Order: sequence, then C-alpha cells, then structure tokens
Amino acid sequence: MSPETAATAAYIVAALLTVMSLAGLSKHETARAGVAYGIAGMAVALVATVALAARSLTAGGIALLAAAMVVGGGVGLWRARVVEMIGMPELIALLHSFVGLAAVLVGWNGYLEVEGGQEGVGGSAAQTTVPPELLGIHSAEVGIGVFIGAVTFTGSIVAYGKLSGRMKSRPLTLPGKNALNLAALVAFVALTAGFTIAPSLGLMIGITAVALALGWHLVASIGGGDMPVVVSMLNSYSGWAAAASGFLLDNTLLIVTGALVGSSGAYLSYVMCQAMNRSFLSVIAGGFGVESGTSASGTEDGEHREVNADEVAEMLAEASSVVIVPGYGMAVAQAQYPVADLTRRLTDRGIEVRFGIHPVAGRLPGHMNVLLAEAKVPYDVVLEMDEINDDLAATSVVLVIGANDTVNPAAMDDPSSPIAGMPVLRVWEAENVVVFKRSMAVGYAGVQNPLFFKENTSMIFGDAKARVEDILKAL
Ligand code: TAP
Repeated sequence: MSPETAATAAYIVAALLTVMSLAGLSKHETARAGVAYGIAGMAVALVATVALAARSLTAGGIALLAAAMVVGGGVGLWRARVVEMIGMPELIALLHSFVGLAAVLVGWNGYLEVEGGQEGVGGSAAQTTVPPELLGIHSAEVGIGVFIGAVTFTGSIVAYGKLSGRMKSRPLTLPGKNALNLAALVAFVALTAGFTIAPSLGLMIGITAVALALGWHLVASIGGGDMPVVVSMLNSYSGWAAAASGFLLDNTLLIVTGALVGSSGAYLSYVMCQAMNRSFLSVIAGGFGVESGTSASGTEDGEHREVNADEVAEMLAEASSVVIVPGYGMAVAQAQYPVADLTRRLTDRGIEVRFGIHPVAGRLPGHMNVLLAEAKVPYDVVLEMDEINDDLAATSVVLVIGANDTVNPAAMDDPSSPIAGMPVLRVWEAENVVVFKRSMAVGYAGVQNPLFFKENTSMIFGDAKARVEDILKAL
C-alpha cells in the first residue's frame, strides 16, 4: 500500500470517529464515549498527517514540526488540566480563535506559494503547482479561507474578552452598525473578485483587514446575555474555517471534519436561538439586542428585604414544596455540595424538592446539570425550564442560588430591556422567593433585576456556599 493510500484510509477512519464522537456527545449517557472517539480520531489524523508530511521535509523542517507539536500539545494539556468549569467558555472561545488564525495562515501560505511564487517552508515541495485553468479557483479559495478564518479569529478574541471579563459585556453600538457590516461584506466580495482575476499582495492585505475588522465588530455589537449563542456560532465558523483550509491543502479529512463541526455548530446555534427566543439570522448579522435600550441597567428600583439563614430555615421547615433555581453564582461558590445536602435534608422531612434549570444558566449549556450530577443530585428532580415553569405558582419557596438574568421578569415585562424576549423562569409567581447573592450587583447581561424588589422576594447576602451551610446548621 502506498503511503498516500494508507493516509487516505487513516483519514476515513478519523472522519468516522468524528461522526461517532458528535453522535456520542449529543446524549448525556454517551458523552464520555463521544469524547474518547474524538480523541482517537484526532490521534489517527495527526499520526497520518505527520507521517505523510515528514517524507518531504528536511531535518530542519521535521525539527520545526516536532517543536510546534511539543509546544502546542504541552500548552493544551496544561490549560485543560488547570481550567475551572467556570472558565470553560472563554477557553473554548480562545481555542476557536486559534482555528481562525490557522486558517488565515494557511490562506496566506497558499497565496505566497502559488500566486506569490515563493518557495515552500521547511523544505516542502518547492513551489506548489496549480494548473493555469485552476488558478482562479485557487485564488477564490484563498480569499474565502482567509476571510472566514480572520472573522473567526477576531470574533473569538472579542468573545474571549467578554466572557473572561477583560472587555465590557455591554454591546458596542456604532452609528449605522448594520450598514457597516453590510459595507464590509460588499468590500470582501469586491476584493475577492478582484483577487481572483488579478491576485496581488495589496488585495490580499485588504481582504484580511476587512475580515479582521468585521469579526471584531460583529461580536463586539452583541450584548452579554446573547453570548452563549455567539460562542456556539463561532464554533460553527471555526469548522467552516477548517474546511476552507482543507480545500487549500487538498486535505479531505479537514474538509469532512470542518464541515461536520461547521454544520453541527450551526444547528446548535439554531436550537439555542429558539431556546432564547432570538432570531438566527440576526446572530449571523451580529445585530440582535442592539436596537433595544438599556433602560433597566444598573439602577435600583425600590426597596429590597433582607433575611438571615435562620429565617430561611424557618421558611423551608414550613414549606410543602421547594424549587431550587441555580445559576452562575452557585458555580462560583461551588455551592452544589451543600445544596445537595439541603435537598436530601428537606426530602427526608417529606418536602418536595425540585430543581429548575434555565437553558443558559451559568456560562455554558448544561453547566448546572454537570455541577448537580457531580454532587449526586438525582436526575429525576432536575427539570428543564419548560418542565417546571407552570408549577412555580403552586410552589411554597423558590431558592434562587446565584442566578440573576435567567430569573429577570424584565425579559417579559420590559420591551426596552436588552434581554427582552428571552424566556425566563417565572420564580416570582411562587409564594416566597429567596435570592442568594453577595450584593445588589447586576448579572452577566448588566441589567437590574426587578425580582429583587418584589414583595414576596427576600435577599440573603454572602457567598452562596457559606449561606446554604448556615441554613443547614439552622435546620
Ligand atoms: P448571572 O446572570 O451571571 O448572575 C449570577 C449571579 O450570581 C450574580 O447576580 C452574582 O451576584 C451571583 N454570584 C456570583 N458569585 C456568587 C457567590 N460566590 N455567591 C453567591 N452569589 C454569587 O447568572 P445566570 O442567571 O446563571 O445567567 C447566566 C447569564 O450568563 C445569562 O445572561 C447568559 O446568557 C449568560 N451566559 C450564558 C452562557 C451559557 S451557554 N449558559 C454562556 C455565556 C454567558 P453578586 O455578584 O451580587 O454575588
């Protein structure tokens, strides 16, 4: 078997493992196996690609390749080991930016080797030869690949900045922002058409610059509350960027896996848009939540009532049903363990305890489910928002533990709110609501929450873990 045939066989195996990985990841029970298939697929692909490439490289080229793999693998291993659950979304955003950057570099390399007439790096086959009749197609691939890669690169950097708190999460609203995005798209089409007819360094720089600016602006224009969909969309873009690189490198595996990641990411974004009542098209256009004002932001409206752990314990002791609504603050405080103890303690007393999980509670889909499963809370009392919302009115006490935007009535009542239209858990319909947080500060979307000022709401301030432990002692 020739090395090329062996590599193609390995690529088919790797592509199948990628499909099995995606299928596994779609269900809770098979997610672990899905991850294992993904790792195996990547390992097969990496070995085949390196073995094939090494045949045409000089010793210097091989040393460069090995150094890149050791440094890249080392950094990846280190980050994956130290990342905390709450830092996961920003790490994912950062990894997407690498895929985007890689696509830009592959595009530039393609340009330099073919249209630019330069020699390959590291002793690889001197100049790549493209038949003259296919040169236009190659140039179009370069332009499109660099464009998708650069949009993904800067978009992901901004998403990383917003998720990690290094950039403000409020949307940037430049005057005529939609016109600016449209102008950037028109400029890209014109520049790429020009580049396909007569490639030049100037046009290549133009395409890259327009795409970098567009990616930055698209994500900067989106408010904090809508970031989950954006991260999923960038995941999809990174897949398309990899597929574009696959065309340029003539690598079928990159085309197949890139298209799989691109389309599954797009579908996930679509499902998330539906869950959050957002328009899918406006995510792609980087435009949602922007026309709406920020009326509720930051300002306090009314008096809030404060309670202590003893009072909450009394309230719980008299309750017949309790719903716990966890959010990002539960993850920060690592309060899932005392929350699980509280659940057992109340259940033993004959009180019905259930959990209400908002689709975007926390910082990534499924965040709360993972934490509760870790603390051994039984699956059957953990319900989705739609499963529990209608029961809240008949609930004695709702404990909102470190959740804020996901229980904000302004999403339903205030059309000018940046989170207007986003479905929320209607916790205020319960007899009593207790909100656990450290201060009156706003949540991720940066808007004030009228729930805190309702008559049936009490606030219990401090770290959620410490407060739940106090309640356990008082019970
Ligand atoms: P948030 O709206 O972010 O509110 C979290 C609350 O937890 C804050 O009010 C904070 O108040 C409190 N908190 C923080 N640390 C705490 C601690 N140690 N003890 C007690 N309370 C603490 O959370 P949410 O309701 O879960 O909503 C999620 C938000 O994140 C949404 O806007 C969502 O769109 C966005 N988001 C979601 C995702 C996905 S995919 N799930 C990804 C990115 C962003 P204090 O500071 O006063 O304590």
